[in-house]
Amino acid sequence: MEFSKLINMRESCRNYDSGKKVDTELLKKCVEMACLAPSACNSQPWRYVIINNEELCAKIAKGVQDNGFNSFASGAPAFIVVYGEDAKMAKKFDGLIADNNSFRDNDLGIGIAYLTLAASDNGLSTCIMGWRNDSKINEALGQPLDRKVHCVIAVGYSLDEAPRKKKRKSFEELVTVFE
Ligand SMILES: Cc1cc2nc3c(=O)[nH]c(=O)nc-3n(C[C@H](O)[C@H](O)[C@H](O)COP(=O)(O)O)c2cc1C
Repeated sequence: MEFSKLINMRESCRNYDSGKKVDTELLKKCVEMACLAPSACNSQPWRYVIINNEELCAKIAKGVQDNGFNSFASGAPAFIVVYGEDAKMAKKFDGLIADNNSFRDNDLGIGIAYLTLAASDNGLSTCIMGWRNDSKINEALGQPLDRKVHCVIAVGYSLDEAPRKKKRKSFEELVTVFE
């Protein structure tokens, strides 16, 4: 899809066709695209877990619904959970960077952007969810309960007419230009 069209197509979906399953190979293809994202020192600190299993999806949905939030997640037929590994910086930065993970959140965010765009390009809809209960998600996935979950992405086929008009601050508020 033309890139500017793709950017507009990608939107947060909160209304999934729960009866329409997603092909695991398609999910893998999207994650493969996300793995091509740039990262500091090419450290690729992202780790993706694809969940395309009804029983596990129900548990992941519960992990993003504390306090009554994200009720739509119960309708999502698949999820991708994103973890961050310790980033490994190039030797030349030894002693120069206080924290090797300084760039990790940037890296993970770029990867997630790639992932959601790849999903849109393949006819899928997504919703990035930052609201989550890490221990519930980790318990479902057999991970140490205190492992930090970076975010959970709901994936499926939307029942909405896409795309909605984007709500964004004005260009002037967001951008400064020196010419
Ligand atoms: C880091 C992050 C966390 C988010 N968490 C949630 C969430 O928990 N629940 C939700 O419904 N949307 C969540 N969103 C989606 C945003 O609300 C959405 O991206 C924003 O309103 C812009 O709308 P659009 O994605 O449709 O363009 C999150 C987005 C990001 C990037």
